[in-house]
Amino acid sequence: MNPLPVLNEGPPGVPFGDAPLMLESIPALQDEVRALAAERGAVILAHNYQLPEIQDVADYVGDSLGLSQRAAASEDETIVFCGVHFMAETASILCPDTTVLLPDLDAGCSLADSITAAQLRDWKAKHPAAIVVMYVNTTAAVKAETDYCCTSANAVPVVEHIRREHGDDVEILFGPDMFLGAYVEKTLGIRMHVWDGECHVHAGIRPGDISRVRAEHPGADFLIHPECGCSTSVMEYVAAGDIDSDGVHMLSTGGMLRYAREHQGGTAIVATETGMLHPLRRAAPDVDFIAANEAASCRYMKMITLPKVRDALRDGRPEVKVDADLATRARLPIERMVAIS
Ligand code: 13P
Ligand code: SF4
Repeated sequence: MNPLPVLNEGPPGVPFGDAPLMLESIPALQDEVRALAAERGAVILAHNYQLPEIQDVADYVGDSLGLSQRAAASEDETIVFCGVHFMAETASILCPDTTVLLPDLDAGCSLADSITAAQLRDWKAKHPAAIVVMYVNTTAAVKAETDYCCTSANAVPVVEHIRREHGDDVEILFGPDMFLGAYVEKTLGIRMHVWDGECHVHAGIRPGDISRVRAEHPGADFLIHPECGCSTSVMEYVAAGDIDSDGVHMLSTGGMLRYAREHQGGTAIVATETGMLHPLRRAAPDVDFIAANEAASCRYMKMITLPKVRDALRDGRPEVKVDADLATRARLPIERMVAIS
């Protein structure tokens, strides 16, 4: 597997290299951002892991699938993407005539970096008959080599669809996230070829975290993102009868929000990036949401700050634009995914 980047996370909530925003300056900045967005005909899309003050200023906040669907339906002149680079690329692929702004081009993703297009071509050459399923957390160049994209919200239905279309013996190359791949394999009781990539944030949520929070909060529900390093062990606890399967929910970030809207009271342990706690607590203020691991913060997501969003809207840059030929090839697997979801 590729070496993981060395990250200096800095104090929680404060992006590395950025001065902390004074609380009192947030409302004025948010007003400025909204006024500039109206002036530019821009829609602001934000991922669930974004800083609270960014989520609160966005037109749409969602998971990777919802953001792709919202971008695909966009008729706005400009999309300001508050998320990471591959998400802005996906928006550019789906809306080639729209200006897509990413307030900080360095907002990358360790998972997307765990496979390159050249590595995928080599893997395909070893399995020429295989169908390639790649998580949407990949570069446009990797998507261009892919048959179907998936997100955490639809990985299982996408693989089921492929097996219906191509038969149960179909060979599948699944990547780049090994924990999501293992989750799909266990859920469907099948074997695939799974790339050994991971997201450094989710992989860091370990089985030991689950044992600790379980002991501290007996009877709590579990909301677990399938990218987590603990996801396989939780499925094993359930299979062994150690944890009641009714209380365990393996969900995308959008699925976690649906859980919040449908529940009242009680405690839920949340195994994903800690930015998720903000929309969950807003959706269900009387549920006690507890992070499985308080240190699970994505430095890349937190690179997007209100001053950078304001500057991007004011200056019309930095822009993410995927080359037209590459975009045409990368669009097909995303459109196949959106059609299944
Ligand atoms: P979802 O929002 O699709 O669950 O993805 C999580 C993620 O890690 C995005 O970076
Ligand atoms: Fe990538 Fe992980 Fe950050 Fe999501 S949380 S953007 S998968 S590094």
